[in-house]
Amino acid sequence: ETKPRIPVLWMHGLECTCCSESFIRSGHPLAKDVILKMISLDYDDTLMASAGYQAEAILDEIPRKYPGEYILAVEGNPPLNEDGMYCIVGGKPFVEKLKSVAANAKAVIAWGACASWGCVQAAHPNPTAATPIDKVITNKPIIKVPGCPPIAEVMTGVITYMLTFGRVPELDGRGRPLMFYSQRIHDKCYRRPHFDAGEYVESWDDQGAREGYCLYKMGCKGPTTYNACSTVRWNGGVSFPIQSGHGCIGCSEEGFWDNGPFYSR
Ligand code: SF4
Ligand code: SF4
Ligand code: F3S
Repeated sequence: ETKPRIPVLWMHGLECTCCSESFIRSGHPLAKDVILKMISLDYDDTLMASAGYQAEAILDEIPRKYPGEYILAVEGNPPLNEDGMYCIVGGKPFVEKLKSVAANAKAVIAWGACASWGCVQAAHPNPTAATPIDKVITNKPIIKVPGCPPIAEVMTGVITYMLTFGRVPELDGRGRPLMFYSQRIHDKCYRRPHFDAGEYVESWDDQGAREGYCLYKMGCKGPTTYNACSTVRWNGGVSFPIQSGHGCIGCSEEGFWDNGPFYSR
């Protein structure tokens, strides 16, 4: 309670804003407590009240005042073609602003599939050269929190960990926090007993679908997807795609947008 709140600058490149939509729905901790009590969210194109020159000045001021102390959180990614002209923020290419704000950051969080891997705007043939942020920021610890979007409590959980322990959580070889991304959806899926018993949904709305059988034959990518959906779940632990009768499309995996089809029938 006596610690000064750590400054966070949250930048948005090419993205859809649903990572923010997910974040504001965190129940444990509540997003409002993260923003108002745990961190000092000094810049966020989506959530801040200020706008225009006043807001943009914060991106110069915080790195100058708190070198090596603030966290840069990035939603979306920079397109590199045409000198970054496909994403202009406050009159400058996003890629330029991203590099400049990253230069003095303590650590960088890559929210979602956009910042971590590229996502739909990087879909083949990727005309704007939308590029994951770790290809542009190469000298800082980057914590990848993939998903399209990531689970709200995973997002706030990563921030809580960093504030509590003052360090980056343990990451896997691809930069993802092990505490949320060390298991496949398939490992803890409640439909797994049906998979093991060879009981599959064979077509949408067949008897197997009504009985809650395994969705593997309908294209479920749970066996190759690392994420916490089958344990943490969504909407405060209420459900997740498979529980709603839809196979996992692997939205936290690199290249999921090009690795279809999402449905095998
Ligand atoms: Fe939207 Fe998905 Fe990108 Fe998040 S990762 S901003 S949900 S497209
Ligand atoms: Fe695995 Fe998907 Fe079947 Fe669940 S529904 S057991 S994740 S294949
Ligand atoms: Fe995404 Fe699969 Fe979870 S589609 S939301 S990783 S169940």
